[in-house]
Amino acid sequence: MNASADAAALARAHAQALALRGQIDYHNHRYYVLDAPEVPDAEYDLLFRELQALEAQFPELLIADSPTQSVGGRVLEALTPAPHRVPMLSIRTETDIEDSGAVKFDTYVRSELGVDTGLESEAPPVEYTAELKFDGLAINLRYEHGILVLAATRGDGETGEDVTSNVRTIRCIPLRLRTGIRPAPEVLEVRGEIYINRNDFDALNETQGAAGEKLFVNPRNAAAGCIRQLDSRITARRPLSFFAYGTGETTGWSLPARHSEVLDAFAAWGFPVNGDRAVVQGADGLIAYHRRIGALRNTLPFDIDGVVYKVNSLALQRQLGFRSREPRWAVAHKYPAQEAMTEVLDIEVQVGRTGAITPVARLKPVFVGGVTVTNATLHNEDEVRRKDIHIGDTVVVRRAGDVIPEVVRVLAERRPAGARAFAMPVTCPSCGSAVRRDADEAVARCTAGLYCPAQRKQALLHFASRRALDIDGLGEKIVDQLVDSGMLRTPADLFRLDVAGLAALERMGEKAAANLMQAIDGCRDTTLARFVYALGIRNVGESTARDLAVHFRELDALMKADEQRLQQVSDVGPVVAQSAAAFFAEQHNRDVIAELVKAGITFAPMATPKKTAPGVAGKTFVLTGTLPTLTRDEAKACIEAKGGKVSGSVSKKTHYVVAGAEAGSKLIKAQELGVAVLDEGALLALIET
Ligand code: IVH
Repeated sequence: MNASADAAALARAHAQALALRGQIDYHNHRYYVLDAPEVPDAEYDLLFRELQALEAQFPELLIADSPTQSVGGRVLEALTPAPHRVPMLSIRTETDIEDSGAVKFDTYVRSELGVDTGLESEAPPVEYTAELKFDGLAINLRYEHGILVLAATRGDGETGEDVTSNVRTIRCIPLRLRTGIRPAPEVLEVRGEIYINRNDFDALNETQGAAGEKLFVNPRNAAAGCIRQLDSRITARRPLSFFAYGTGETTGWSLPARHSEVLDAFAAWGFPVNGDRAVVQGADGLIAYHRRIGALRNTLPFDIDGVVYKVNSLALQRQLGFRSREPRWAVAHKYPAQEAMTEVLDIEVQVGRTGAITPVARLKPVFVGGVTVTNATLHNEDEVRRKDIHIGDTVVVRRAGDVIPEVVRVLAERRPAGARAFAMPVTCPSCGSAVRRDADEAVARCTAGLYCPAQRKQALLHFASRRALDIDGLGEKIVDQLVDSGMLRTPADLFRLDVAGLAALERMGEKAAANLMQAIDGCRDTTLARFVYALGIRNVGESTARDLAVHFRELDALMKADEQRLQQVSDVGPVVAQSAAAFFAEQHNRDVIAELVKAGITFAPMATPKKTAPGVAGKTFVLTGTLPTLTRDEAKACIEAKGGKVSGSVSKKTHYVVAGAEAGSKLIKAQELGVAVLDEGALLALIET
């Protein structure tokens, strides 16, 4: 081939590479930033491989910001220092976990700005942007004429480390700015946080464990470790993500007036900017934001350790300036830590209502998730083995929201010499009967049924629980004493108790005994659904109990039904039908039920099913936030009574999201998916039609 033919081929390849890069960048943004891919993965892979082949054939076409470089490149000897043109400062932290953190900051800002702070102040509230405080590591991304040229860690704030080749492998970070809406400035430094989603972190640790590699302690450490890798091909396989939240040096960009608009500009240039940010007014706005995010914290896919408040006006930010190494216009307002380290003092087992034997870690008391934790469930034997938890181990404990505290992982390097492994007991610690674990089951069970005092106690507590017969005051301590003394064997025995007998128990005065007796008497008037649930039939939860009650309407009819009849109930399959039929076939159970009926248990007549509402029947609803007058249970009951279904999560199949005050991520998801959103009034209107 002659020289001019070569040149022509190169020019064609060049044009083709440009076109391919444009397409790949577009799909990367749809997939990694907007979470809304347009083409199947296979189609994307095809474009990617086509570009790789082209660049292999014409190496002179290869450029640093080609999307093909996202798979990593050569191995570095060491990371090189990268001085920051504008120092990367830290921000003041308000550890006060109550609302006062927000009030203090607002008061401080107003006094610094010389705004009248008196109670009767007529001055308008200060406007803030409120953001999540991501728990990852800070990074400075430098774009020159729209192209990523340098990525540096924070370091000491003056000088960080050059981690450009690693950052290029993070798919949601644009290698070049998307300039469809606004042109690229000469210099743009975008600051933000590199982090790992919790799911991705768990998967990463699983792979590490399987390969015999060291486990990461938490997502933040993992993110930091991955970013400071010398081999960018390893970083490329790590599930790193990024959110933009601030600027460093900028040249050739006349910044907008407000920080919130800076964030919007970042999004337009193709950066991921978290959607849970908000522009709010004054201390009240900050408080509401802090509470809203606190409530939805556990539903976020990644860890946050607080929220950040920033004065929104950039002019006011300049006026406020800095104090030592911290801006006066921003503050971090923390939430209680959800993870902490502690020691496993012992591993004991608990016997549940159905005989399930659950190992429980007794922990050295540790303050986590806002409370002192002394126990954590270990679920079952396999889980103890999988996490390799020994007595004496130092472990990471997590308590997120109201869920039961969990041991997340062991710090194996801290295991003391005398650490002991856990063994499942072969006999029940409560009654001494054999413990059996079926081949296809994860849990081991005591085989004694209601002859086991531990199971009996749990069954009685369940019978009395709020959603069953709701006997207020019949708690664990009382049931323990009643069962141990032989006064209580079955629920029917409850109606043979008297005030004198109860008052003789420990920690029980005359008054408390009389109250409890009254609660027991009062529980006789109930509904069939509650009663069926209270029986504690295996596999029959609250909603199945309701389905059974609605279908059979009379206790007798339900007790006589065989498996075939039971399966005619909507949502009842062979497993539930088998458990229910077996329960009612048991003479012992029939006797207890007969005694309960004799003791005067009565069922409120079932409401005749109302006509279903055409707007509700067959539709799926998701409830979120606090409604002004209805509780969540009431709203659910209204919807179900009219033939609708209530589901826990929003998807494309959801027909309506009913949102109240402080609705969180479900509302956002609904908006993203274009699902209709109703308030309480609109829901009630729909139900009435
Ligand atoms: S603004 C000068 N916004 O928290 C203000 N920081 O000390 C610079 N962080 O390590 C920080 N989320 O990496 C800001 N939405 C957010 C943030 C955030 C997390 C981190 C940041 C730094 C620390 C603040």
